[in-house]
Amino acid sequence: MLHNIIIDTNYNTFETWINQQNYTEIAVLVDENTNQFCYPLLQKKLPKHQIIIIKSGEKHKNLKTCQQVWKQLTHLNFSRKALLINIGGGVIGDLGGFCAATYKRGIDFIQIPTTLLAQVDASVGGKTGIDFQNFKNQIGVFNIPKLTWINTNFLATLPERELKSGFAEVIKHTLIADKNAWKDLIKKEKWQDHDWQKIVEHSVNIKKNIVEKDFDEKNIRKILNFGHTLGHAIESFYLNKPSKKLLHGEAIAQGMIWASQLSQKIGFSVIETQEIDEYITNIYGELKLKKNEIENIIQLIYQDKKNFNHQINFVLLESIGKPIFDVKIEENEIKNIFYI
Ligand SMILES: NC(=O)c1ccc[n+]([C@@H]2O[C@H](COP(=O)([O-])OP(=O)(O)OC[C@H]3O[C@@H](n4cnc5c(N)ncnc54)[C@H](O)[C@@H]3O)[C@@H](O)[C@H]2O)c1
Ligand SMILES: [Zn+2]
Repeated sequence: MLHNIIIDTNYNTFETWINQQNYTEIAVLVDENTNQFCYPLLQKKLPKHQIIIIKSGEKHKNLKTCQQVWKQLTHLNFSRKALLINIGGGVIGDLGGFCAATYKRGIDFIQIPTTLLAQVDASVGGKTGIDFQNFKNQIGVFNIPKLTWINTNFLATLPERELKSGFAEVIKHTLIADKNAWKDLIKKEKWQDHDWQKIVEHSVNIKKNIVEKDFDEKNIRKILNFGHTLGHAIESFYLNKPSKKLLHGEAIAQGMIWASQLSQKIGFSVIETQEIDEYITNIYGELKLKKNEIENIIQLIYQDKKNFNHQINFVLLESIGKPIFDVKIEENEIKNIFYI
């Protein structure tokens, strides 16, 4: 797989790259926030282009928004030689990548991720798509961008809660792939004080290496789902609760605590389970759940098509940096981690 990723805070690198291309038309896709905070940093570096603005947020990652994008591309008379530049978080990247893949059977696109989550995760690996009928990422395609250009300067305007949400994927990458990096990560007193350039570079490399080994997610790519089996279930649970909103990374952080507890079944150390629990709880707080809520969350795991017959597939840790995927866990074993 040829995944061209540049991590650079110098805007001229991007300007040089884009000026070497030969696109007949260029459109920039943003939401109202990235239009305000990110687009102005790049505007003057871009060749002649049109701008398409959509509404921000997961609830707009749907077919209706795609129609708006396709409509504008059509009205602008864009040909198959056009380029779409997605400037934004994972929502813009996923939806923009999908629109690019389908407009006139596919035009080129580039990802300029502006959230930590999109920089270390969503913009790497070629997954694009939209939500459909309350199912996340139900419709989509694998589609590799011509370029993913990552500039950590964009993170300066990101709300802290969004930064923290993306940081959960950074934690995940160290836990599944790099014990030394995990030990370095937890040494820092305040997670906000990390050198984001270093963190992003390291995290992107981990994801890129895994994806390149198994693009179609037949085996090793599954380890990127560490924390996501229960994480997705609580994410869905809170989706239906207007009183409390949980961001993706906040749910995954919790999911990683539970996955490491379950990992003791395959020999993961008790001390490291506590270390993970303490570190994550310090940053994300404790999620207190009632018995009936736990029951609901467990049932939501079966929404994932990979889990059926009361058996659920987990990614667990044998040790930090050594994940095992497709570990079958029974419902009762999950209940045990809540009720001990
Ligand atoms: N394709 C993949 O492999 C993959 C992987 C992980 C997640 N995702 C998807 O990513 C999405 C979540 O992405 P996200 O967390 O980036 O959310 P998001 O795109 O909704 O962005 C979060 C918020 O931050 C704002 N924002 C973005 N950049 C900003 C900046 N620099 N300054 C100020 N505000 C800014 C956005 O407008 C939005 O309000 C989900 O839809 C998820 O399914 C995809
Ligand atoms: Zn995730």
